[in-house]
Amino acid sequence: MKNLSHLFERNVKWASDVKDKNPDFFTDLSKQQAPEYLWIGCSDSRVPANQIVALPPGEIFVHRNIANVAVHSDLNCLSVIQYAVEALKVKHIVVCGHYGCGGIKAAMGNEENGLIDNWLGHIKDVSRFHAEELNQLEGDEKFNRLCELNVLEQAANVCNSTVVQSAWKNGVDLSVHAWIYSIENGLLKDLSLSISSPQDLEKLIS
Ligand code: CO
Repeated sequence: MKNLSHLFERNVKWASDVKDKNPDFFTDLSKQQAPEYLWIGCSDSRVPANQIVALPPGEIFVHRNIANVAVHSDLNCLSVIQYAVEALKVKHIVVCGHYGCGGIKAAMGNEENGLIDNWLGHIKDVSRFHAEELNQLEGDEKFNRLCELNVLEQAANVCNSTVVQSAWKNGVDLSVHAWIYSIENGLLKDLSLSISSPQDLEKLIS
């Protein structure tokens, strides 16, 4: 049987390195988690939430799926948002996409990919909403822009979720952000969408 002993070896070394630096790290963390951020990102192995913002375990609550989709019918994502906002009381929700996203690329084409095409239908929706702008672009420019527009649309979906709407109604301090990451240089870009109230959202839509 093939086992993954090398990963266990790495784990032992990692845990011991962390303890060397801070002997109480795991004991403290085992008592509670109090992250300030919820991260909704792509499953892509090159975009690990904690690592790219250099934060240790305990600091970010994470939900990842193909192409960082946050739609009103996805109970998985909605449950994560609810738990993060209502139980953990995160202050920020970051929707983070990335350039070169395979999910976005697949959604731009017409190949048959099986089951996943149902999921990618959400990206095709984004593409249709912004057809006028996207039709002016070609190649990588079009691809990159759809990656950005998808982040903005998913962030707007998060803002429209019942959980976020009711948090704002109750005066909770909660902001939704849209970021995009470049696999080519390791840098994040803020897409200048930062919404902290229904009024902010209205301004964005109008
Ligand atoms: Co991706």
